[in-house]
Amino acid sequence: MHHDTSPAPERGRFITFEGIDGAGKSSQIAAVVALLQVAGIDVDQTREPGGTALGERLRALLLHEPMHLETEAMLMFAARREHLAARIEPALAAGRWVVCDRFSDATFAYQVGGRGLDRAKFDALEDWVHPGLQPDLTLVFDLEPAVAAARVASTGVDPDRFEREQCGFFERVREAYLERARGAPQRICVIDASRTPEAIRAEVERVVHERLLA
Ligand code: TYD
Repeated sequence: MHHDTSPAPERGRFITFEGIDGAGKSSQIAAVVALLQVAGIDVDQTREPGGTALGERLRALLLHEPMHLETEAMLMFAARREHLAARIEPALAAGRWVVCDRFSDATFAYQVGGRGLDRAKFDALEDWVHPGLQPDLTLVFDLEPAVAAARVASTGVDPDRFEREQCGFFERVREAYLERARGAPQRICVIDASRTPEAIRAEVERVVHERLLA
């Protein structure tokens, strides 16, 4: 009989990136993934809503189909439930690190802060879908909504349902992110995204080193 005597791998780390549309997280995600890979870490890069075949179909609905704000919140968490079960949890259990573009902090910021979803309903959904699980590190890219909106407009890509929102919506989303960060300072790090990409990248790399690689 063959017995596998190798010990269970150490659980991987879960890193998430957040911020209003146009805050510039995409290029920083690529830099962090590269940094981790150079350090010899096996990384799974993914996004929300999305990350699974079903999640990507829900994403298409969420970004383009008008719906009630509670429908929107529940679909975000439905996609997340699938993502956790099919991809995030298995990766972390196998010792791989997961780098995810947005997670539940985005639902708090956009649906509670931006749209006015009842906070108790958000808490209930979060507690249902991932009790006891939070990212090991969350980077929130913080930027004035007017500056972020100009960046989104300059891409020339057709704006989705969220990107078409007014500045007031993004002011509320931004405030909700900052409030969430104040409530979990050991997990959430706010990055001033008004600086040059090089300056931002240097700080992001320093934070990842200090909090996860040191
Ligand atoms: P994102 O991946 O940042 O879009 P892009 O591909 O344009 O960079 O996010 C898609 C949108 O979904 C974004 O506007 C934020 C929104 N969103 C929520 O409103 N709630 C959520 O829980 C998540 C994960 C995203």
